[in-house]
Amino acid sequence: MYNRRKFIKISAAGASLAALSTSKIARATILNQAAGFPIVISTWDFGIIANKEAWKTLEKGGRALDAVEAGVRIPEADMKNHTVGRAGYPDRDGHVSLDACIMDEFGNCGSVAAIEDIAHPISVARLVMEKTPHVMLVGAGATQFAVEQGFKREKLLTPESEKAWKEWLKTAKYSPVMNIENKQHAPGNQYNHDTIGMLALDAKGNISGACTTSGMAFKMRGRVGDSPIIGAGLYVDNEVGGATSTGVGEEVIRNVGSFLVVELMRQGYSPEDACKEAVKRIIKKKPDTAKEIQVGFLAINKKGEYGAYAIQKGFSFAVCNAEKQDLLVPGKSFY
Ligand code: GLY
Repeated sequence: MYNRRKFIKISAAGASLAALSTSKIARATILNQAAGFPIVISTWDFGIIANKEAWKTLEKGGRALDAVEAGVRIPEADMKNHTVGRAGYPDRDGHVSLDACIMDEFGNCGSVAAIEDIAHPISVARLVMEKTPHVMLVGAGATQFAVEQGFKREKLLTPESEKAWKEWLKTAKYSPVMNIENKQHAPGNQYNHDTIGMLALDAKGNISGACTTSGMAFKMRGRVGDSPIIGAGLYVDNEVGGATSTGVGEEVIRNVGSFLVVELMRQGYSPEDACKEAVKRIIKKKPDTAKEIQVGFLAINKKGEYGAYAIQKGFSFAVCNAEKQDLLVPGKSFY
């Protein structure tokens, strides 16, 4: 942590500090307003590079909202990432459809679901929030809005994704399987994830969050998971904290997962304990289903304390602050 001792050290630098430009002094002060922030956290190992991008905004004293949008655009653009953004696996009919939402410190939020032909759903979600009277646009309407806002319309199905889909068609009997992207690979490896959820607490102590995914691989056409649903895949209350989720969206929606985590923090739960309780509720309602699926929650509170909890082992999250830019933390789990 960038703590009080370091702050005092900087302040005590006396004469040499006087030599610093005003902007550098301002920056040092901003970075030390409190031990816990600025900070950005996000789901899975790909969160490391996403956090680094978000940090460029946070370290300058920028707004958490700008940080999370910039951060999650990195995995959205990654051609090797088949669970988020433009190279995501398609639905069972071969259409790539993306889901994303964003929420700021004022409780404003925007979302797109089942958007096609647009590579950066998170930025469209932000414009839904800022430029429309609505919270959520879906399907063809979301694509139409994006194009009107100047986004490029492009074919998203990559050769690798198409190959994987055609392989799936050979044996799957056209039947979607929950969390297939996780089941195909060993827990904890680079493929064992499905969504990036990111939460940032900026130098002013304000929280924003973003969540984006291509959803369940080879899903039914029109299927929407938790990621673009405010309260399910993401929730921010600037008085309390923020939460986001990854894994089988249907179970997160049924339990309004991220809202639940934030409300538990409001009652005094630590971020980790709040995530654990939300996971336990999913397991309690459907114990047999829960043994077969992954759901993970990640949360941060106003002090910059963070924590996570998942149903299955293998979940990890990335943390970035003034002290460390590439911390990957293994998430605790029920099983
Ligand atoms: N958590 C991503 C999804 O279920 O679509």
